[in-house]
Amino acid sequence: MPVYCITGTNRGLGLEFVRQLAQSSDNTIIAATRSLSSDLANLKAVASPSTHIVECDTGNVASIRSFVKEVAQLLGGKKIDFLLNSAGVDLGSWQSSLTLGPDDLHAQIDINVIGPAKTVELLLHAGLLSSNVRILNMSSGLGSMQRSSEIKPRKCAGYSISKAGLNMLTVHQSEDLKPHLPGAVVIAMDPGWVKTRLGGNGAVLEPHESIGGVLRVLHGLTSEDNGRFYHYTGEKIPW
Ligand SMILES: NC(=O)c1ccc[n+]([C@@H]2O[C@H](COP(=O)([O-])OP(=O)(O)OC[C@H]3O[C@@H](n4cnc5c(N)ncnc54)[C@H](OP(=O)(O)O)[C@@H]3O)[C@@H](O)[C@H]2O)c1
Repeated sequence: MPVYCITGTNRGLGLEFVRQLAQSSDNTIIAATRSLSSDLANLKAVASPSTHIVECDTGNVASIRSFVKEVAQLLGGKKIDFLLNSAGVDLGSWQSSLTLGPDDLHAQIDINVIGPAKTVELLLHAGLLSSNVRILNMSSGLGSMQRSSEIKPRKCAGYSISKAGLNMLTVHQSEDLKPHLPGAVVIAMDPGWVKTRLGGNGAVLEPHESIGGVLRVLHGLTSEDNGRFYHYTGEKIPW
């Protein structure tokens, strides 16, 4: 009876995770969403009886703290086997390194980096991560130093910087969790270019193709994969 905890589930890739995982009645799903006041119709439509919709604004540490308390009550002693940090934003995508908007960059660091960091930290300290937990930080090819240098036209500098930060966070978490949870595996994942609000109209993949691949990679992870960066196809990505 695996327990999945996913952030950013009201739309996009987070919603697709819930849709696919809810098809098995064995799965308990904690579906986190930034606000319970937003339109959750699509999420409710795909949720299973064992899906719990809980508020978590990953750009706000107090909200993550309340979320963790609620998850502890919901799970009643059970632990999270898969933590999927999917919530993310791409702000000021037209900005290059020569036109960075400080407010946009700060918000992206808050949501794309500090959010996954505090989510892991607070769930760990609440004793809610299983000893073999798999943690997936949803990154991007734009977070790869090598891939970013090849991108034309130049854009998404702030997003790219935040995802490179998330990649480095992944490496740190993969080492720092070892004394606490020796069986934990933490990876960064590039889901490909997917047709969501963030991916935009030019994207090439349907959410079900991307997330089908991501879940195949996730379920095949072994201790050897700890601290690696994967593409949804299972290919390793250069940092
Ligand atoms: N789509 C792609 O091509 C692509 C490529 C590479 C990486 N990614 C990554 O994949 C992840 C999911 O992206 P997506 O394509 O599904 O984007 P999306 O369709 O724009 O959805 C983003 C999700 O993140 C949530 N979110 C944003 N800020 C949040 C916050 N402060 N707290 C909690 N949730 C928040 C949104 O909730 P609200 O509706 O409440 O704002 C929404 O559920 C992101 O980390 C993104 O960087 C996507």
